Amino acid sequence: MSVATKTISAAPPSPSRLGILWGSAIGKKFLMALTGILLSLFVLGHLLGNLQLYFGKDSTGAWLINNYAKFLHNNVPLLWGTRLVMGVSVLVHAIAGIQLYLAKQSARPIPYHEKQSVNSTLPSRTMIWSGVLIGGFVVYHLLHLTVGSAHPDFVPLDVMHNVSTGLRGIAAVVYLISMVALGFHLRHGLYSLFSSLGAGNPAISKNVFNYAAVVATLIALANISFPLAVLAGLVRG
Ligand code: HEM
Repeated sequence: MSVATKTISAAPPSPSRLGILWGSAIGKKFLMALTGILLSLFVLGHLLGNLQLYFGKDSTGAWLINNYAKFLHNNVPLLWGTRLVMGVSVLVHAIAGIQLYLAKQSARPIPYHEKQSVNSTLPSRTMIWSGVLIGGFVVYHLLHLTVGSAHPDFVPLDVMHNVSTGLRGIAAVVYLISMVALGFHLRHGLYSLFSSLGAGNPAISKNVFNYAAVVATLIALANISFPLAVLAGLVRG
């Protein structure tokens, strides 16, 4: 007796919305913009928190910046929630950025004989390199001021001590160069982000270009002030 068999092939799983976004260049750009907003907000919040390095001690004699660090470390959901969102954002932002860069390169395997950049700025042409530099900085920075393994005299939760003894010599140079790269990256990143929101309007575009430059410069300068203040002996703990 023969039994007829029929093979039923399962329909391929339909990609999720995230999969569709990740699969197209425009979708990747959208995800980069979204994660770029989250990362910029983190950089701004982190900077505002770090400004407490300049605000001295409370009435009990404890450094305000150390109280702030203790508050963050005691607030486990806030700390780990932020770490999770930032970790995922960095990965998505970096992988999408590298993939888009490589796709652009392979679209023109033979470089222009003579390349004249029309309407482009140094920050816009060096986004991939400033991004790689910031990525490297973040890894070093975590080992330096969070884990402490790259710090000469790390004391857990004594931020004032860790910053004032850590941002010296070669470490200070690494911070200064990285903060310039951050300023470059933010300048073009903020411009692309905001001009996408007001796309097509040259009047808005010009204003956005100027605002992005001012905001990025202020953030970079405020961050640069920390190693400079340590080197000048203004931050001591
Ligand atoms: C000169 C500028 C900066 C100073 C003085 C500084 C200082 C610090 C300090 C003291 C910590 C440890 C805080 C703690 O353990 O409570 C820290 C953590 C961190 N910083 Fe910075 N920072 C600077 C710039 C930046 C920049 C530009 C970025 C990002 C691009 C960044 C990203 C981070 C991250 C991701 C952490 C880990 C936070 C965590 O514990 O989850 N920092 N920073």
